[in-house]
Order: sequence, then C-alpha cells, then structure tokens
Amino acid sequence: MSETIHIETTINGRDRAFEVAANLTLLDVLRDQLGLTGSKECCVVGECGACTVIMDGIPMNSCLMLAVEIDGRDVITVEGLATDGHLNALQQAFLDLSAPQCGFCIPGQLMSAHALLQRNSDPTIDDVNEALGGNLCRCAGYLQITEAVMVAAKAGKE
Ligand code: FES
Ligand code: FES
Repeated sequence: MSETIHIETTINGRDRAFEVAANLTLLDVLRDQLGLTGSKECCVVGECGACTVIMDGIPMNSCLMLAVEIDGRDVITVEGLATDGHLNALQQAFLDLSAPQCGFCIPGQLMSAHALLQRNSDPTIDDVNEALGGNLCRCAGYLQITEAVMVAAKAGKE
C-alpha cells in the first residue's frame, strides 16, 4: 500500500484539501478519486494530449504528473470551463463548428486552446497549430478545431 500525502490545491476555482496516494498520477486522481472524468485517459505516455489540464496557466499532460505535484497549485480541468451551466466561447465555437467527431480528444484540445487564449487573445493560425501540436485527433478534425479556436478568439474580442 502506498503512502498517502495531504495536499491543498485549487481545482476549477474551488479550494480543495484531501489525501492522495503518493504513487498515483494526477489523471487517475482526477478521474477516480475526484470524479472529474472529463480529462481522458488514452496513451498515458504523454503522446496524445487527451489528458491535458492547466496548472498555473500552463497546459500539462496529467498522465505524466503525480497528483501530489498539484499541492499549492491552481488547476483547471475541462469541467472548469463552463460557468453556471453555460459553455464558454471556446466550447460554443467547437460545438457550432462541429469540431468534435468522436469527441475523445476534445477535452484536451479545449484545455490547450484555453491556455493559449489566456496568454494570447489574438492568436494566428500558426499560434493555434503550435499550441495544439501535442493534441492528437484520431478523427483528423484538425481544420474544424483550429477554426473553432480562431472563432472563439474573435468572439473574445467582441
Ligand atoms: S493520456 Fe496523457 S498524453 Fe495521452
Ligand atoms: S474528435 Fe475523435 S479523436 Fe478527435
């Protein structure tokens, strides 16, 4: 049995304090302990980006992190994008442009795109492609995904 460690963190704007097993990944704890199943488990080796969350403004592969690493940090998961049940501009643009096909990669795509728009509200297409370069889409919906990010950026300026 692994040692457990007490951590204090902020997840989706809410202060949380709980025990985590020292050997568990952040992805496992989000999904299995906290019930935040929006972050997807796919390759678990840092190749696909389906598990992307944002820690202190930086997109991270939660499958490659230990959960204890979020102690004292601010974490946003895909569940934190909507407010009071209303999709944010990025989510709405993905929906409007039918960016999700099977949908499996979309939480990770959204988180990488959200981190980009937080640091650059007026990205170029190259900026978007670079920011989402670590997020693979088996359905190859890259054009719609890129377009949706550009639409959301434009909406954010209006
Ligand atoms: S599941 Fe984490 S990068 Fe693929
Ligand atoms: S929408 Fe199916 S993997 Fe991207």
